Amino acid sequence: MPANYDNAVEYYDATRGYREGVVERYRDALFAFTGGDASARILELGIGSGLIARAFQPAAQRYVGIDYSLGMMRLIAGKLDGGFSPLLAQADARYLPFSAGCFDLVHAARVFHHLQDWRECINEARRLLRRGGALVIAENIAPADAARPPWAIVQDKWDEILSGLGVQDDGADHGIWLTDDAMRQYMESTGAQVDAVDLLRYLEKAVSPRIMVERRAAGMFSSDWSLPAALHQEAARALQDWLARDCQAPDEMVEREMLFRALTARW
Ligand SMILES: C[S@@+](CC[C@H](N)C(=O)[O-])C[C@H]1O[C@@H](n2cnc3c(N)ncnc32)[C@H](O)[C@@H]1O
Repeated sequence: MPANYDNAVEYYDATRGYREGVVERYRDALFAFTGGDASARILELGIGSGLIARAFQPAAQRYVGIDYSLGMMRLIAGKLDGGFSPLLAQADARYLPFSAGCFDLVHAARVFHHLQDWRECINEARRLLRRGGALVIAENIAPADAARPPWAIVQDKWDEILSGLGVQDDGADHGIWLTDDAMRQYMESTGAQVDAVDLLRYLEKAVSPRIMVERRAAGMFSSDWSLPAALHQEAARALQDWLARDCQAPDEMVEREMLFRALTARW
């Protein structure tokens, strides 16, 4: 089963939102790279709560978003103004209710790492694109030359604790990362011209080790949603003990440098 983002409605924007101006820079980079503009017919796969879509108002007249999660899409209403009103559909990215060739640009941000059936989603995006239109699959990743923030140790500790509790596979639905050659190879095998591009480099909002531990304990990471509740609680207690006893500078707030990296395909 795909991760159910209805679980995340309460805290998604507060914990996954970007600093001011970042999504507008993503939109500009997307248009610059694809040659798109306000007249482009755009489809966003996994639009979620509209954190990214919001930047397209009023820069896009025809903007369509799809997502599994109605709860997430309900949050979009609070971000609209100026007459921008994207067309929304609750749908699975593998099977979309649109006719062939009706979009100039299909993009997805922070979605493909959830998609087990990512090949089918690429096929479906290809069907919906006009000839020469672009599919842009973007993810947020840490640049190789960026310093690792002190709070990143929380992830290492969490993995160590889960492994100590016998969790080899967290049961989460893992999709595909851009770093996996399989995605490029698959796109090329379908005849696409494929490019990898760093759309922009940006700073995330600052967090501390304590904040990351609190988010883990509160079950705010989709990778933890399939853990049994008792096991999650036990792991969270162990993480909180580590924070109290061994973590250096638990309240140091540090911003991490990140990239919007994308793989693009044109047929
Ligand atoms: C991490 S959120 C990203 C949301 C938004 N793109 C953003 O960057 O804020 C992933 C979204 O993809 C959606 N999703 C995952 N698999 C999907 C699928 N097969 N079809 C449609 N939506 C899907 C989830 O419901 C969730 O809203």
